[in-house]
Amino acid sequence: MPKTTKEIKRNVQAPKGMHDILPRDIPWWRKFETVANDLAEAYGFRKIITPITEETDIFSRGVGLETDIVNKEMYSFKTKGGDFLTLRPEGTAGVVRAYIENNMSTWPQPVKLYYCGPMFRHENPQKDRYRQFFQFGLEAIGDPSPVIDVEIIWVSYLIFNSLGFKDINFEINSIGCPACRADYLKIIKSFYKTKQNKLCSVCKERFKTNPLRLLDCKEAKCQELRQGLPSMLDSLCPECHDHFHQVLDMLDYLQVPYTLNPYLVRGLDYYTKTVFEIKTISGDSAISLGGGGRYDGLVKLLGGSSQPAVGVALGIDRIISVFQALHDKEPNIKKNRVYLVQIGEAAKKRAFLLTEDLRKSGISVYSSLSKDSLRNQLKTADREKVKLALILGQEEEREGTIIIRDMESGIQEVVMQDKLVPSIKKKLALE
Ligand code: HAM
Repeated sequence: MPKTTKEIKRNVQAPKGMHDILPRDIPWWRKFETVANDLAEAYGFRKIITPITEETDIFSRGVGLETDIVNKEMYSFKTKGGDFLTLRPEGTAGVVRAYIENNMSTWPQPVKLYYCGPMFRHENPQKDRYRQFFQFGLEAIGDPSPVIDVEIIWVSYLIFNSLGFKDINFEINSIGCPACRADYLKIIKSFYKTKQNKLCSVCKERFKTNPLRLLDCKEAKCQELRQGLPSMLDSLCPECHDHFHQVLDMLDYLQVPYTLNPYLVRGLDYYTKTVFEIKTISGDSAISLGGGGRYDGLVKLLGGSSQPAVGVALGIDRIISVFQALHDKEPNIKKNRVYLVQIGEAAKKRAFLLTEDLRKSGISVYSSLSKDSLRNQLKTADREKVKLALILGQEEEREGTIIIRDMESGIQEVVMQDKLVPSIKKKLALE
């Protein structure tokens, strides 16, 4: 049976939980990328591009077998050659794999890298939770100092500051090293021993497989049961305690807004010592715009030498949605953008060369070369919100002139085509 138009239309859609980023959103994405890339470079991070897939094992071992990401959310597949690959659910494990494979431990340490790209998690889609989403990440590998934790937090903070975000807050905690965490896990087990039957079904399972995750369950009844649980901070060994206090001391000095959250453990298993999440208010609730922390055991776990490391990833889709709600005007409306209206065959051909002259002088040109009507083209120019339209008709082309029209005032001026670039630059105040 042939499909009805309605059925066809229903099928023409992006995969569930994935979305298009349309041209109207691009100025916001560009602004984010420019600010984030410039800040990362200014603080000595260098860009790395890793493959979008890795061997599944990199994530199973790296992120942790008992995490939601590995357990439920990975897009994994067997290739025709028989390899087991996974679309990356996060960037850190791939960057660590690249660090090991490219012998970066022989480079000056720490190796400071940044990346940007799509990640894939088979989650239940909801507002600001996608199955394909973009992250911008910073990783510093090969330095145990708390100063590097602070540098990661500081650069993240500056990115939000430069974008004009006002109510950013870092929730921060330390989950210690494997030695002191082992002591704390015993405390958790004994605390929940008599309460485990009252836990939600997910936490009942976590009690057996990953008890630390009992701390950050969002279920009200589990949060109630959590009352009275001793804080991890009281179980830290002297080295972890000292590390955390140095981090907090520097954050105080830099006036980075933060709150201690003793229940923050993060959903990935590789963390040690400092963990943090970057929160803001969106609508009635707080959302996480980024998160990160130290992962001193991951390089060794994935087959490298023992190297301490720390990093962060920012969720770009969420950042853009808050950014757009914050400002009613798109950032960086290109001041140097004009619309070229052409009428007649000769003008159409000439338009190609004029566009090229303008482009070489840093002026972006919009046009609708297949259109003929002056009215339609001016309407498009209006919709594109350009300041100037250039009108090239048969008469102008014959005489070597062109009309510059100010779209706001409607005032028009005729100039010689060979004087066009300086005239436009003057009008757009580019000189
Ligand atoms: P994460 O907390 O899983 O950390 O992700 C970081 C950020 O990515 C989140 O705070 C959120 O803004 C965004 N994000 C995560 N999942 C989704 C989703 N389904 N839809 C939209 N946005 C999402 C990591 O990925 C670690 N690799 C961070 C890190 C780097 N730790 C050390 N270095």
